Amino acid sequence: MRINKYIADAGICSRRKADELIANGNVKINGVVVDVMGVDVAEGDVVEVNGRVISGDHSKVYVAVNKPLGVITSMEDDRDRATVADIVADIPERLFPVGRLDYNTTGLLLMTNDGQLTYTLTHPKHEVFKTYEARVEGVISDARLRKLRNGVDIGGFVTSPARVRLIKQMPRYAVVEISIREGKNRQVRKMFAAVGNRVQALKRTRIGEIRLGRLKEGHYRKLTKEEIEYLKNL
Ligand code: URA
Repeated sequence: MRINKYIADAGICSRRKADELIANGNVKINGVVVDVMGVDVAEGDVVEVNGRVISGDHSKVYVAVNKPLGVITSMEDDRDRATVADIVADIPERLFPVGRLDYNTTGLLLMTNDGQLTYTLTHPKHEVFKTYEARVEGVISDARLRKLRNGVDIGGFVTSPARVRLIKQMPRYAVVEISIREGKNRQVRKMFAAVGNRVQALKRTRIGEIRLGRLKEGHYRKLTKEEIEYLKNL
């Protein structure tokens, strides 16, 4: 596509105004000033106007949400309970959750209107490690941590290898970090139940390289360009 049409189609200005910007040296393709008419933009080219990148599909929105307790991972609820849709209500695009978190689980949930990305991220072939911080009842022994790492039977299904790290052991409870690739229904809770430590609280802190960080419960943030690239390349 011709560069002037490309700029106009991106909603920056008219084609005629785009010609002026080009002639004045305000337009770059892949970091190189383009000040002649009639140059074509190819797929994957990075186009800058006045130092701002305008290439890419701007209709796609990617956010990280910190889901609070008692909020359901769905866009509406027939019982009128709070949903994750409420958290992103000020975003005009209709976003959908990527996978789900239990009603009683808090933490990182991705939401997007990019159906292709949702499909790849939730496809078993691409499943990335998801990391949770679990507060569990009682004392958790090394033998139990090892079992969790190697795989436990959660009712007709043996879990695949997990990364498990004891964060702290208190007299009546323990805090454990666990990363799993699968996403069976209530999997983390079932895994701890299988070794005899009931989960009291569960929070997802990471999805692959995407981190919850300091995002407050009930809030969202837009993913960075680097995070979006990372997800698309999984
Ligand atoms: N495992 C669970 O048990 N619950 C979740 O919400 C996610 C993983």
